[in-house]
Amino acid sequence: MTEEKKVGEEAIAVHWKEEEVIQPKEEFIRQANMRDPKIYERFSEENYPECFKEYGDMLSWDKHWTQTLDGSNPPFFKWFVGGKLNVCSNCVDRHLEKYGNKAAIIFAPEPEDEAYQFITYKELYRRVNEFAALLLDMGVKENDVVTFHMPMVAELPISMLACARIGAIHSEVFGGFSGKAVAERADDAESKVLITIDSYYRSGRLIDHKARADECVNKCEETKIEKVLIWERYPGKYSSQTPLVEGRDYLINDLLKNYRGRRVKPLSKPAEDVLFLMYTSGTTAKPKGCQHSIGGYLSYVAATSKYLFDIHPEDTYWCLADIGWITGHSYIVYGPLAIAATSVIFEGTPTYPDSGRSWRIAEDLDVNIFHTSPTMIRMIRREGPDEPEKYDYHFKLMCTVGEPIEPEVWRWYYEKVGKKEATIIDTWWQTENGGVIGSNLPALKPMKPGSCGIGMPGIYPVIFGEDGKEIEKGSGKAGNICIKRPWPGSFQTIWKDHDRYVDTYYRKYSNLESKDYRDYYYFAGDGSVEAADGYFRILGRIDDVINVAGHRLGTKEIESSSGTNEEVAESAVVAKKDPIKGTVVDLYVALKSGFEPSRELEEKIRNKVSTDIGPIARPNKVYIVPDMPKTRSGKIMRRVLAAISNKEDVGDVTSLANPEVVEVIKKRVQG
Ligand code: WTA
Repeated sequence: MTEEKKVGEEAIAVHWKEEEVIQPKEEFIRQANMRDPKIYERFSEENYPECFKEYGDMLSWDKHWTQTLDGSNPPFFKWFVGGKLNVCSNCVDRHLEKYGNKAAIIFAPEPEDEAYQFITYKELYRRVNEFAALLLDMGVKENDVVTFHMPMVAELPISMLACARIGAIHSEVFGGFSGKAVAERADDAESKVLITIDSYYRSGRLIDHKARADECVNKCEETKIEKVLIWERYPGKYSSQTPLVEGRDYLINDLLKNYRGRRVKPLSKPAEDVLFLMYTSGTTAKPKGCQHSIGGYLSYVAATSKYLFDIHPEDTYWCLADIGWITGHSYIVYGPLAIAATSVIFEGTPTYPDSGRSWRIAEDLDVNIFHTSPTMIRMIRREGPDEPEKYDYHFKLMCTVGEPIEPEVWRWYYEKVGKKEATIIDTWWQTENGGVIGSNLPALKPMKPGSCGIGMPGIYPVIFGEDGKEIEKGSGKAGNICIKRPWPGSFQTIWKDHDRYVDTYYRKYSNLESKDYRDYYYFAGDGSVEAADGYFRILGRIDDVINVAGHRLGTKEIESSSGTNEEVAESAVVAKKDPIKGTVVDLYVALKSGFEPSRELEEKIRNKVSTDIGPIARPNKVYIVPDMPKTRSGKIMRRVLAAISNKEDVGDVTSLANPEVVEVIKKRVQG
């Protein structure tokens, strides 16, 4: 973190006004899964790490573990060592006796004239088994990585669970990403099989998704993908304009006819084996494959689903996140299903065909737990501020995740969406973390708008300054939030890149020479302040990652895509604050000599980023500038560009190599 940024964050902290706390309703407290304040004591540092036995015990084990935490080779931590289990049997089979005829998944198609699909645990069991048998016949073996490129349909969790059943690792790439982005990740994971779907609905359009699979396999230079397995949005009716490639493409629904009634025994796996990879943007162009375990991960998401999201089997729980992100993996699929929940999967967007859509789903399905992000909340509020009151639904709990939420937006969420009945949890965590690490157990601690609350049980956050000294709570100073001890939900490493794992997350504040795990601090890369009451407020990323609409994008990823245009010499991406999306991308470009700026060229560069990475990364604005502001050593000063985009003070620029360019850029951008 640079000196400038540090000052910036401290300034935010100083201006931050303390909010009042709001108590959860008595009615909520009475029914909550976790009402025992002693849980924080049970999970205190004295009882660490054995406290996490309580989480491990929530799962069904084929063989009990012999060691709760093996910290002998930090920072590579192992949980529930010696234990064996299967994730699919924990999420499906073990519920059959009691909840067989209860909905596990409710699929809400985008077109409102299509009926909801209620998939019971029994039906889920049948479909997962048949697909698992098919995967085995396709040659998928234990510990193979299968790449998915799937939208929000029930076939996605079915595919995930089928992989888990046979011990294969899945790597789902967000459905909105381009084929090229899929290719890059599939290459890294050395996947031989890609699972996709022919089409799906988005904002009224049936999107030809199979086309992206072709783009992926054809563009994937080192492709090892031999087979593309394609679900059909309408089984038996192939709904893509893209022809099937003989010997490579297979229609799953066609083949499944031969698997009727087939059952596959769940493979008993060591707790420390890999369940899935989830690629996330880093500071360099290459996305990081966060590697998540079986036993530790599942125990952590099961326990947090129960105690934090307060899910009971009789609730209807709806998380609007995409399963292509970690939130969907942990809190649409694995956590809820591990505790026999009913989890809603919605294909579309909450504002199509109108902004009442979400509330109609909530009313139709009696949703009582609602989980979304500040971006969605801002969007729903902009489009239909008075819609919620027109519908007869009642939430007992609501969640926000993915970025800091402004107290003002929080209040609208509380008053309008939650009708002042619902308890709100603000859940802070990351792809790397597996599950929520900063939030309040909802019946035990009051809410405070804009703060996530305290560390979850067994999670001990601390804020360090740049000098490595701990920043006292209540000091009003911001710093780098770190976590003091490992926890079971955390990722194990970066796939095939252990050095990067150590460098990125542990080098800054750990003693890497030490073999004592207590000398290791997980560096989250977020700025944070801690109030006198111990509540944390997260201020956002301190590295070069931009968080757009709750999705993390690497600046380098976008810049390198921009650089593939022959006209482009240099690119710099900055985050611009946006009243709806929180953050949008502004892209500054300097051209090679001999090329002239034009509107067409700006458009071309925007489109290139969109095709390379996906529409989510599409820059809000492309500014063609004569030169980048640079330090004397040649580093582009993104901070200066960010200040210009956000109409903030650029500060002292006299030490730059080319201070005169700042005014020129300012004129160009601010007019
Ligand atoms: C940010 C999403 C403030 C944070 C689960 C983090 C948050 C990044 C919150 C991870 C929150 C997530 N309040 N900021 N409640 N939750 N963030 O990996 O900057 O997609 O580092 O995981 O989102 O994003 P990721």
